[in-house]
Amino acid sequence: MTEEDLEDILEIEISSNPHPWTEKNFLDCIQRDYYCLIQEFNQKISGFAIQSTSLEEAHLLNIGIKEKFRRKGLGVDILNQVIIFSESISCRRVFLEVRVSNTKAISLYEKEGFQKVDIRKNYYRLGDGREDALIMTKKLKKDWKDFIYRRLV
Ligand SMILES: CC(C)(COP(=O)(O)OP(=O)(O)OC[C@H]1O[C@@H](n2cnc3c(N)ncnc32)[C@H](O)[C@@H]1OP(=O)(O)O)[C@@H](O)C(=O)NCCC(=O)NCCS
Repeated sequence: MTEEDLEDILEIEISSNPHPWTEKNFLDCIQRDYYCLIQEFNQKISGFAIQSTSLEEAHLLNIGIKEKFRRKGLGVDILNQVIIFSESISCRRVFLEVRVSNTKAISLYEKEGFQKVDIRKNYYRLGDGREDALIMTKKLKKDWKDFIYRRLV
């Protein structure tokens, strides 16, 4: 993802979220060197995902697929890309927050092996009021650090 992609990404974001991220939110992620990924379909931006990493834990901060490209498996594809990247940098798990009413996203995450672990009360701002967040995590399969450690001892 580069600054030039932000117009398309903001269009996806604004049509997806009741309290969308701003351009500055996306710019901050790019400047902080988070894993900021765009997905293309027929040479057009179809989706994006953003993840930060702290120690051995990856945090999926945002993900979205353009409305006209939804239900084609692209959500699964980009989520898997994030998971593969997290495994490649030896993260032990990925976690995320999702609005409790966002059943489509929750279904996607469950399909990809995420489990519900907690609720964060009033986490999300809406146009009017607040909504709880569901916390979901996925334990990652590959653990290269453990693998190397086992080979050394
Ligand atoms: C959630 C989102 C990323 C899914 O993207 P997508 O490309 O449509 O998803 P896929 O086609 O890969 O579908 C994967 C699974 O997601 C779930 N899903 C996706 N759309 C769904 C819908 N309209 N109704 C129910 N389940 C749905 C299903 O489990 C689906 O599997 P299935 O097709 O075997 O039933 C997309 O709807 C989106 O961008 N939503 C707005 C942004 C958002 O909510 N982001 C999550 C923030 S936490």
